[in-house]
Amino acid sequence: MYENPRLILDSSNPPEPGQIVWRSPSNLAIVKYWGKHGRQLPRNPSLSLTLTASCTDTALGYAFKETVNNQIDLEFKFHGEENEAFRAKVLAFLESLEPQFPFLRQLELSIQTGNSFPHSAGIASSASAMSALALCLCTLEDALFGTLQEEDAFDVKASYIARLGSGSACRSIYPYAALWGKTPAMAGSSDEFAVPAEDLLHPTFKDFHDDILIVSTSEKSVSSRAGHALMEGNPYADARYKQAQSRLSTLIEALRTGDLEAFGKIAEDEALTLHALMMASNPSYMLLHPNTVALIEKIRAYRAETKHPVYFSLDAGPNIHLLYPGSIISDVRGWIEEDLKEHCVDNWYIQDWVGEGPEEI
Ligand code: PMV
Repeated sequence: MYENPRLILDSSNPPEPGQIVWRSPSNLAIVKYWGKHGRQLPRNPSLSLTLTASCTDTALGYAFKETVNNQIDLEFKFHGEENEAFRAKVLAFLESLEPQFPFLRQLELSIQTGNSFPHSAGIASSASAMSALALCLCTLEDALFGTLQEEDAFDVKASYIARLGSGSACRSIYPYAALWGKTPAMAGSSDEFAVPAEDLLHPTFKDFHDDILIVSTSEKSVSSRAGHALMEGNPYADARYKQAQSRLSTLIEALRTGDLEAFGKIAEDEALTLHALMMASNPSYMLLHPNTVALIEKIRAYRAETKHPVYFSLDAGPNIHLLYPGSIISDVRGWIEEDLKEHCVDNWYIQDWVGEGPEEI
């Protein structure tokens, strides 16, 4: 898809140098993507909420090459500093996009990127980083060739390209919520790109919070890439993929009707299923931390006591995502301050919320 050898610049009419800047957020999957095949194709559909505060800013500079060569020329800075490991990753990704963006070899490129949260925070940054880069590349294509004028076409290509960088990144393109992976529950859904899911949301879910309680900032002992691969030998894999389909239908119904209890049950069950799959892999591994478990117990006790609709989710790591509607924000923030943040590294948590998605800045 999207292979286009005609996207080549005419050297007799070179473009002016320019710069494109996008801010793109991370996202939190409620039904999780875990297990893939081919080039970042999901084994099951997933649905996420688009975050706001946890984001990446990426500036892509470009100038037509004075001397033609057949390689991608890239200057790269992360938080203002050279970073050879990140540069090599981004360069390999850009090289892999030759069929989609053949013009990249005709340009001198510079990328300056940085996250709103510290890099070593143990917070997945691949979704925000890869979506920001994909958006920059699609804006560049459109600036040079005028080929992505329609918003839908632009979004689909940006989501497709983001997916090639990091699967979950394809969902960060859309405001509020996104669905990725073919499912009868959503017309137009695809394994190749995510589709917007904002229209599914009851107003309750548009004023919705995800405070991220930072339990550990250490690098994960097993990467997501290795975790996905271990699903191939996991004896529960087939049952899991079926379960995700059925939970997705239940989740969509809960999102439509504003049923917080049904939503919260799926969010928590999915988080624990993800980690159970890791523990049931061969070799087995565990990313939960004692403080993750302590927080889960506190969240369940608080909910039972106050009847407040507060739920948890987890990504592939030990940090807790605390999910709740805006209507109870002052009670929840007071409770975090008093009772939860002592379980966090340096009392640290990130106040995040469901929002408008990426913006060009
Ligand atoms: O996008 P990846 O390959 O880093 O996989 C991430 C998978 C989870 O974050 C654990 C779940 C999800 O759907 O985002």
